[in-house]
Amino acid sequence: MGKFTYNSLEQLKVNVKKLGLELPFSENLSVLERKLAFHGREVPNRLAIHPMEGCDGMTDGSPDKLTLRRYERFAKGGAGLLWLEATAVVREGRANPRQLYIHESNKAQFKQLCASIREDHQAIYGPKSQPYTVLQLTHSGRYSRPDGKPEPVIGTHNEYLDRFMPEHFHIITDEELERLEDAYVVAAGLAKEAGFDAVDVKCCHRYLNSELLSGFTREGKYGGSFENRTRFLRNIIMKIKSAWGNSIDVTLRLNAFDAIPYPYGWGSDQNGGKEPDLSETVRLVKMLRAEGVEFLDLSCGNPYYNPHIGRPFDMGPYIPDEEPLVSAARMLNTMRTIQQSVPDMSVIATGFSWFRQYAPFIAAGGIENGWFTMAGFGREAFAYPDFAADIFQKGQMDAGKCCIACGKCTEIMRDGGKAGCVVRDAGVYVPIYKAGREGKPSQQSNRIDAHI
Ligand SMILES: Cc1cc2nc3c(=O)[nH]c(=O)nc-3n(C[C@H](O)[C@H](O)[C@H](O)COP(=O)(O)O)c2cc1C
Repeated sequence: MGKFTYNSLEQLKVNVKKLGLELPFSENLSVLERKLAFHGREVPNRLAIHPMEGCDGMTDGSPDKLTLRRYERFAKGGAGLLWLEATAVVREGRANPRQLYIHESNKAQFKQLCASIREDHQAIYGPKSQPYTVLQLTHSGRYSRPDGKPEPVIGTHNEYLDRFMPEHFHIITDEELERLEDAYVVAAGLAKEAGFDAVDVKCCHRYLNSELLSGFTREGKYGGSFENRTRFLRNIIMKIKSAWGNSIDVTLRLNAFDAIPYPYGWGSDQNGGKEPDLSETVRLVKMLRAEGVEFLDLSCGNPYYNPHIGRPFDMGPYIPDEEPLVSAARMLNTMRTIQQSVPDMSVIATGFSWFRQYAPFIAAGGIENGWFTMAGFGREAFAYPDFAADIFQKGQMDAGKCCIACGKCTEIMRDGGKAGCVVRDAGVYVPIYKAGREGKPSQQSNRIDAHI
C-alpha cells in the first residue's frame, strides 16, 4: 500500500496524472465560503463535518461529557454544517451500549446538545451565524450490539458478510420493518423538538437500511425489485414528511455503492465487473429529489468488510491492493457522477481526510467544477476540529494538525472504547487507546478479501 508521501500539491497532481486518475483542483478557496440554503435554512459555508460516532454516550443514550466536548470543538471550528453521529431509534438497534439513542425520556439532553452547539458557534462567529445541524437516525442491523455482545438483525443473507457474524442472527420480518418505520418518525419528532434543522435516515455502510437496498434475494415487499428494496427508506422519508411537514428537513447519508459483488451489494455491476454501477443509485437519488429531499451526504463501502473503499488509510486492518489515492479518487468521481446526473440535488462529498493539507484545493475544485456542492470531513474533524477556521482565516490547513489516516480512531471503536484522535488529541485518547489495545492481537491479523 502506498504511504502518503506528497511534499507539495504539484507532486500530488503529478501522481494523479501518472495513475490515469481525474481529480478537481482549484486554488480559489473563496468558493468554500459561499453560503447556501436548504429548505430556506441558511448554511454559512460549504464545509461540513460528517457524522462520526464517538461511542461515548451514557447508557440511556444521552450525550455524555466526551460527546459534549467533541461537539463543542466542532461548533467552534467554523464548519457550516454539522452532521451529528449515528443515533439509534430503538434500543435493540444500538451498535454499542454507548451509542447515542434518542427517546422521550432524554429529549431534553438532546435539546441541550443542540443549543450548546449554536451557542459555542455563535460565541466565535457572532449571533447572526448558525451552523446547520443534522441528526443521523439509525438501526445498526447486523452490527447491533445493544449490550456489548453481537445481536445481529439482518435484512437479507449475504455470502460475504454472514461469515463474520455469530450464528444466531435474526432476519427482520416485514411486520417488524413496518413498526420500525414508525420508530423513525417518532425519533424525527423528538429531533425536531430538540431543535435540529434536519434528520438523516441513515442509509449507508451496510447498517439495516443500507443492507435492504441490496436485498435482491429477500422475499416479500422489502426485497427483490428496486421498488421493494428501496421501500423501507422511502416509506420512512414519506412518513416523516407527512407527520412533521416543513418543521424539520429530511435528508440521508447514502451509500453510492457497497463494493460487494452482486447480488449482495448495492451499486455493484450486475455483470460481475469490479467497478461500481451507479444506475440504481442515480435512479434512487432522482426519486428522492422528486419527493422533496434537497441534499444528501454520499459515502460508500462497509467499514468492517472493505474500509479502504470509504475511508482511505495509510495504516489499517489489512493491506489493500490499491493505492489510497485510487480509492479516494474513485469515491469523489462517483459523487461527481451522481451530482451531475441530478444537478438540483445538493451533494455533500466524502473522501477528503486522506488528502491532509491539500484537501481544501480538491474541495474548492470540486465545487467550482460541479462535482459536488459541499465538502464533508470525517476523521479530519477528530484530529483538527478547527480546520474550517484555518482555511477561511489563513487560506490553508496546517500540515502539523492534520489527520494522518492511521486508523486509530476506528481501532478504538473496535476495541469497545470512546473514539477520538490518538495522535492530535493525545491527552484524552492515548490512555483510552492503550487500555483498549491491552491483550489485543495486532491489527494486520484481520486481513479480509476485499472486492476492489
Ligand atoms: C471513528 C469513526 C466513526 C464514524 N461514525 C460514523 C457515523 O456515526 N455515521 C456515519 O455515517 N459515518 C461514520 N463514520 C464514517 C465517516 O463519517 C466518514 O465517512 C469516513 O471517515 C470517511 O471520511 P474521511 O475520509 O473524511 O474520514 C465514522 C468513521 C470513523 C473513523
